[in-house]
Amino acid sequence: MRSLVFLDGRTADPDAPQIRVDDQVVQRGDGVFETILVRHGKARELGPHLKRLARSAEMLDLPEPDLAAWERVSQAVIDNYRGGPEMALKLVYTRGVDGVPTGFGLGSPIEEKVVRQRAEGVAVATLERGLDPSLTETAPWLLIGAKTLSYGVNMAAVREAQRRGADDAVFVFGEQILEGPTSSVVIAKDRTLYTPPPSMGILPGTTQAAVFRAAERAGWGTKVEQLRVADLLAADAVFLTSSVRLITRVHTLNGQQLPDAAELHRELNALYEAEYA
Ligand SMILES: Cc1ncc(COP(=O)(O)O)c(C=O)c1O
Repeated sequence: MRSLVFLDGRTADPDAPQIRVDDQVVQRGDGVFETILVRHGKARELGPHLKRLARSAEMLDLPEPDLAAWERVSQAVIDNYRGGPEMALKLVYTRGVDGVPTGFGLGSPIEEKVVRQRAEGVAVATLERGLDPSLTETAPWLLIGAKTLSYGVNMAAVREAQRRGADDAVFVFGEQILEGPTSSVVIAKDRTLYTPPPSMGILPGTTQAAVFRAAERAGWGTKVEQLRVADLLAADAVFLTSSVRLITRVHTLNGQQLPDAAELHRELNALYEAEYA
């Protein structure tokens, strides 16, 4: 059902071993990636995703990716996919072996848990990230804001959130809101959407940008500014956004139930989906 295409155009069996054990991504997590939603054969926000792949690659001093080749790989994965109408397209670009990078696109079904959470919403726990956002400028080797394949910390944060009885985490720096381990944070208050700025050391979200674009067209206000935990507690609605989870409602924050935002969720979802109709 899954489909796998390498950057040189070669299709391969996703159930067979394909990556060498001495690939730097296996040895050191040294690489970058993107995850893109494909619905009915159409990749969403492909341009912004490829731009972000190039930006992450530049931050890691990887050879500049050939974006036309990555577009071809994306299309080939889509064309070869035999699953349902929705697919997660993962583009992986690594340091490879002996200075020759590895690149591939893998199409997979959407995880059941994600589909459930889209409908039901999530409980979230705030967790300290401990990285001063000012390090983004002064310590670029920390790769803050790059989408690297070193996501062990992010996955550990989700497990910690689960130990605390939540479904997912939101990273904070003190009281300042950053992002989820695999999502952006968006809140709605008085028909304005808010999200923290990339200068907080977070990944600029392609879904967040698309939601803001759709909301602006419908007359909503949008603001990119610092948010505190108290702003989430006082919001009309809190969402986690990402390419595959789309706009997921946060119904509980640190054990405290948030206002019922089902109606706002429906409205924003409809505006966002209209972007791709
Ligand atoms: C750390 C982080 N922030 C934000 C996002 C959301 O980005 P996008 O909406 O482009 O998928 C992701 C996506 O996986 C992520 O890993």
